Amino acid sequence: MGKKKTYSFSYHVYQSFDELRAADQKLVKSAIDATRNSYSPYSGFQVGAALLLENGQIITGTNQENTAFPSGLCAERTAMFAAGNQFPDVPYTALAVAAKSVKFPVTEPVQPCGACRQVMSQHEIKFNKSFRLLLYGESGEVWEIEKASALLPFSFHPKL
Ligand code: THU
Repeated sequence: MGKKKTYSFSYHVYQSFDELRAADQKLVKSAIDATRNSYSPYSGFQVGAALLLENGQIITGTNQENTAFPSGLCAERTAMFAAGNQFPDVPYTALAVAAKSVKFPVTEPVQPCGACRQVMSQHEIKFNKSFRLLLYGESGEVWEIEKASALLPFSFHPKL
């Protein structure tokens, strides 16, 4: 028997960057610009993240790879940990992520990895406040997700 439960979430697809409101365009543009600082000699996949804080600050991050592979870090966590270091008491409002590759066109908006989703989710729990994601590839399309933690149902958050 038991009971069937459903988990679902909705997200908004903008066909073009131009459809975004000005503040979101600025944030996505910061993420796109940040890809220039990606250090990704192994994957050639250049990711930029731009985190908007509630105090108006924008903190950027890029993926930083290393020859000892697990020592590298994704763009999203680079930005989130920099913000946690510089502004530990300020919640996020939105996180934009953009990607391009030296090997192929990135035709779909980039989708954050599981470890980054865990860190995003914990921020929402810490501040009891959700923040938006704006995901961008190279096609111009933007996906907007209202609540970052929606991307990681059943995340690990025990009372330790
Ligand atoms: N990567 C990110 O920085 N963010 C993502 O959302 C997806 C993946 C990085 C990790 C690695 O440096 C490269 O992109 C893919 O191998």
